[in-house]
Amino acid sequence: MFSLQNKKAVVTGGGSGIGKAISALFAKQGATVHILELTSDSAKDAVNEITANGGKVFSHECNVANQQEVLSIFEKIGAITILVNNAGIAHIGKVDTTAEADFDRIMNVNVKGVYNCLHAAIPQLRKSNGGVIVNMASIASWVGIPDRFAYSTAKGAVMAMTLSVAKDYIEENIRCNSISPARVHTPFVDGFITKTYPGKEAEMFEKLSKSQPIGRMAQPDEVAALALYLCSDEASFITGSDYPIDGGFIKLNN
Ligand SMILES: NC(=O)c1ccc[n+]([C@@H]2O[C@H](COP(=O)([O-])OP(=O)(O)OC[C@H]3O[C@@H](n4cnc5c(N)ncnc54)[C@H](O)[C@@H]3O)[C@@H](O)[C@H]2O)c1
Repeated sequence: MFSLQNKKAVVTGGGSGIGKAISALFAKQGATVHILELTSDSAKDAVNEITANGGKVFSHECNVANQQEVLSIFEKIGAITILVNNAGIAHIGKVDTTAEADFDRIMNVNVKGVYNCLHAAIPQLRKSNGGVIVNMASIASWVGIPDRFAYSTAKGAVMAMTLSVAKDYIEENIRCNSISPARVHTPFVDGFITKTYPGKEAEMFEKLSKSQPIGRMAQPDEVAALALYLCSDEASFITGSDYPIDGGFIKLNN
């Protein structure tokens, strides 16, 4: 079960955190993995780790917000069977404290970046007579998270794009689902704690851990296991759905 033998997967932001765990697990399950990362340096650790474990992996320097770059890389990769739209960036702020430049930056990466990869991937999925897409949404797609105006806006769009694509390509054998994690312990979380709460890192880490009713953050491998299931043939009846992986955050926080 859950074999990805003979599958070709693209994972955006596959050099760190959740994307790195997904790339490693997909390669372990037999997929050839193509990581799209901002720089070859940011993909280096993932590529070395996967190669050392006997996996098949390639990295491509790509800013997902740049459509020309995305299109030419997908054309170079050719037919694919799996796309994981994982690359994303964080931002803290309420609507009145979110600057236009920050709003545009978040939209460019977290919304337009997902659109660009979907746009470029569909023709390559067609060449394989179909396949599967997983988009990385968030609990912020579901519930009000304090101080996350731009980020929540973007992740709401990711969930809506998932439904739109699932509907439009169902007859072409393309499934599309999203995953909504609560806090996952990655450089993304460490980075924003260090930047936002200098000197209070340990205290904030504890507080953010406890905001999941289960009492801790997720590990990237736990999210990767869900992505593997959704991208495997075992999940062949699942499309147009979002899967929270949240330690009870959405439904038990009351
Ligand atoms: N960590 C969490 O708590 C959490 C919770 C919910 C959702 N998410 C989502 O999961 C995804 C991955 O998060 P993570 O915590 O692993 O983050 P991370 O910062 O550890 O990794 C993100 C990767 O994306 C790459 N990236 C960023 N912008 C890019 C761009 N424009 N083009 C190409 N690559 C780019 C970065 O270089 C980095 O390697 C994001 O979409 C994030 O919004 C994370």
